[in-house]
Amino acid sequence: MKLTSLLPPAAAVVLMTAAVLASTSGVQATQDQPPATPPAARNPTGAAMQGPRPMRSYPAPTNLQVLPKDLTGQQVHEIMESFAGSLGVHCDFCHAADPNNLMPNGRPRLNFADDSKDDKKVARIMISMTQQINADYISKTKVLDPDAMDMKVTCGTCHRGHEMPEEFVIPKEGGPPAPGGPPAGAPPPAAAPPPPAN
Ligand code: HEC
Ligand code: HEC
Repeated sequence: MKLTSLLPPAAAVVLMTAAVLASTSGVQATQDQPPATPPAARNPTGAAMQGPRPMRSYPAPTNLQVLPKDLTGQQVHEIMESFAGSLGVHCDFCHAADPNNLMPNGRPRLNFADDSKDDKKVARIMISMTQQINADYISKTKVLDPDAMDMKVTCGTCHRGHEMPEEFVIPKEGGPPAPGGPPAGAPPPAAAPPPPAN
């Protein structure tokens, strides 16, 4: 088989990755941001003329090894916000500070291209794993079950807002308590005392 037949067009990869990792993450982090300002809405200086807050521009990435290399800075940023939200962490959980690049308040900026943190390396493995789960397994369920929901596995599917996925503890025999009632399988309530005989 020719290698090229295994590779979808680059554009499809970008869309799939961005959609799978960002939009379907179940995290709302990116949705309350102003939409990208179309070029027509910009004045000649390139500054956005309207919108709830000024658009920030994010530099193009220089060290992507797992995500498609042609993602824009904005796309990378949205994916990163979904990572942070899915794990309940801030950017510095995976990205190392640069002591030579200080903000006005004296704190170091993060060097996003730097690879010194192990959590960034683990995250790369996790990105590949998640892509493979969806491409090789989840996508096949649709064929067998046309009514299957078009769900994708995301970071949030396992992490649910935690750095480490929480251990799932199987409920004790009888299952979880019914809302507003005694737990299934619980002993019946003690018999009411007989009414006084008089
Ligand atoms: C769970 C770990 C994790 C968190 C949290 C995280 N990132 Fe990342 N980030 C990565 C990984 C992994 C890469 C590299 C992906 C690759 O190699 O394809 C990366 C790459 C980047 C890049 C591209 C750097 C370059 O030049 O190649 C930027 C910018 C970035 N992250 C910004 C952020 C921001 C901003 C936040 C917080 C909102 C954040 N990241 C949170 C793991 C994380
Ligand atoms: C199928 C479930 C699953 C998915 C999906 C998943 N993870 Fe994980 N992740 C795990 C498990 C399990 C561990 C703990 C592994 C271990 O014990 O070493 C983990 C650990 C991690 C860690 C290390 C945390 C620490 O404190 O050491 C990072 C970082 C991480 N995942 C990032 C991600 C990112 C980013 C995504 C989405 C691209 C993702 N994970 C998707 C299951 C998952």
